[in-house]
Amino acid sequence: MKSITKVPHMLHGGDYNPDQWLKYPEILKQDIELMKKAGINAVSLGIFAWVALEPEEGVFTFEWMDEVVDRLYKNGINVILATPSGSKPAWLSQRYPEVNRVGPDLRRARHGWRHNHCQSSPVYREKVAIINKKIAERYGHHPAAILWHVSNEYQGECRCSYCEENFRSWLKERYGTLDNLNEAWWNHFHGHTYTDWSQVVPPSSLGEGGVNCMNLDFKRFTTYMTIDFYLHEVKAVKSVCPHIPCTTNFMGFKLDLDYQEFGKAVDLISYDHYPLWHEGDDACLSYHAAMSHDAMRSIGNNEPWLLMESTPSVVNWSAVSKLKRPKMHLLSCVQNVAHGADGVLYFQFRKSRGGFEKFHGAVVDHDCSDSHRVFREVAEVGDLLSRLDEVVGSKVESQVAVYYDWDNHWAIEESKGPRNSGAGYYSAVFSYYEQLVKRGISVDLVGRYHDLSGYKLVIAPMLYMLRRETADKIRDFVKNGGILVTTYMTGYVDECDLCYLGGMPGLIRDVLGVKVDEIDALYDRDRNSVEYLGGNVLGLEGSFECRELCELVTIEGAETIAVYGDDFYKGYPAVTVNSYGKGKAIHVATKVDSRFIGLLTERLIDMSGVSRIIDTDLPYGVYATARHTKEESFVFLMNFATEERQLVLDDRGYTDVLTGEKIGETITLEGYGFKILKRKK
Ligand code: GLA
Ligand code: ZN
Repeated sequence: MKSITKVPHMLHGGDYNPDQWLKYPEILKQDIELMKKAGINAVSLGIFAWVALEPEEGVFTFEWMDEVVDRLYKNGINVILATPSGSKPAWLSQRYPEVNRVGPDLRRARHGWRHNHCQSSPVYREKVAIINKKIAERYGHHPAAILWHVSNEYQGECRCSYCEENFRSWLKERYGTLDNLNEAWWNHFHGHTYTDWSQVVPPSSLGEGGVNCMNLDFKRFTTYMTIDFYLHEVKAVKSVCPHIPCTTNFMGFKLDLDYQEFGKAVDLISYDHYPLWHEGDDACLSYHAAMSHDAMRSIGNNEPWLLMESTPSVVNWSAVSKLKRPKMHLLSCVQNVAHGADGVLYFQFRKSRGGFEKFHGAVVDHDCSDSHRVFREVAEVGDLLSRLDEVVGSKVESQVAVYYDWDNHWAIEESKGPRNSGAGYYSAVFSYYEQLVKRGISVDLVGRYHDLSGYKLVIAPMLYMLRRETADKIRDFVKNGGILVTTYMTGYVDECDLCYLGGMPGLIRDVLGVKVDEIDALYDRDRNSVEYLGGNVLGLEGSFECRELCELVTIEGAETIAVYGDDFYKGYPAVTVNSYGKGKAIHVATKVDSRFIGLLTERLIDMSGVSRIIDTDLPYGVYATARHTKEESFVFLMNFATEERQLVLDDRGYTDVLTGEKIGETITLEGYGFKILKRKK
């Protein structure tokens, strides 16, 4: 199988910041010894090292890094080369203040922190291209170099005059005429109509903030500008070493940038993930982590990806820095691999002596030794990953997709009403995802760029902003025999956030066979219920709690299978099923409880003929994933409960990947334990 870099092994390592330790030669020497002991085979170098490489404009001091790179290489450690644009030198901000961002209050920031440069600034782009090229020329052809880590955690917006001008150009390109823009933004409301392009400026806390589509477009523009900046960086390094793949570290479900859009520009997906284990129920958190991994993997069309940053122990920026309990580190690293990662890296290799993150977990603690508990657990991960060569390059395959879209998320957050106290898009998506994963189903998280035709079941919670392309894909999917689930708040607006006229859910009203007339938003304390009707097509029964949002729909061809149990719409349809082409569309008009979603999910799995990763009941806390080659499947069983769990395997014949032993009928997973098994595909 193909590996993501030229290294045919799982990558294990992390951010390596020797620039913090240049006055400590003993420490730098010890780093290499400790890396080897920890089973580290790759480090990301120089992410924040710009000022250490260019202490004065045009004066470059690469000598220290030459030594570091050579030493790493001699010791068999690969180098992920970073471009340092995430943290600009103070001299640069001082000499060229335009590199600092202008915030929502239209004030220009002073120098400080990181991840805060203007994406448009010509001077910043020029200086970044120079340093990137220098780094590429110096190390791009070094045999240690395997990957580019471009910048760091791109995020945030800028409203300076360059960005303002670029925003306007982007809008001109998108809408053609000012009249089209006024229409798209519905500017006639409250008399917002622009009469000249020069009046159009970014939304801000001093100026415009109430035009939904303008706010959305500014987010889309910021994504566009950030990708443009990324490509500018990539151009500089690829002009020297086109053979090295480029990535940048995403951040899971963070809403700053549309990662489905950004994902198209990178050579491979990498991302940073910091779940707060032991804050509550680890089993529940494991499903959230799983969804995050699946979302990131799906952006890269299921190619293997890289966990670029994680912590070996604590994060120090959460309210409480709770230690990872023994075995949790290994388990959570396995979880990444289980979802398709071909490497696990940390922030950072050595704990800083001072500064903002001196208490943030690292591979090497302030004791500078290999006998620390955290170090030993990291070394265990290193050992495990070194035994998983055969898994490298294998891929996750899913027959079920849950629809999640950044643009839709923004639009729901932007919308005033029906519930400004929280419409709950993420939790709606999670509530369906979780029930699938608990039942041993592999799930992709797809958005508007994905092809739906290969799936058997697609669940699209709260697909409020329905683009025409997506509507067409959904229609074809159901027509050709797919099973679709939609919920309340589906198909209300188009991509300009303009409500569909003539009845919702806009473009797929005939697919669902219902028309949405009203939506009732409930206060947090309010409850209603959903009651299945006897003898319904899904053969489901019972009464379930619902809350927050209840749509009142008129039937247009669908069959009502459950009704509301209370209020003035008692007896109105709450769940409907519509046959469309060879498929079926199920509409769940309200936010139902997890018991309801669980039972519905069971039924959907049977109806759609989706196969489970293993044919067995998974006890609470345990879930499974699989990665496949042409011939084999690797099955990961993970127990996020503290107690031991037993499960009965199906009869497909399993071998333990780590021990080579044949596995019998039952398998025991200790608390926070896991097994990696193999079977014929
Ligand atoms: C982010 C940054 C890192 C570090 C970690 C700490 O992910 O990229 O430099 O600050 O947070 O959690
Ligand atoms: Zn700017």
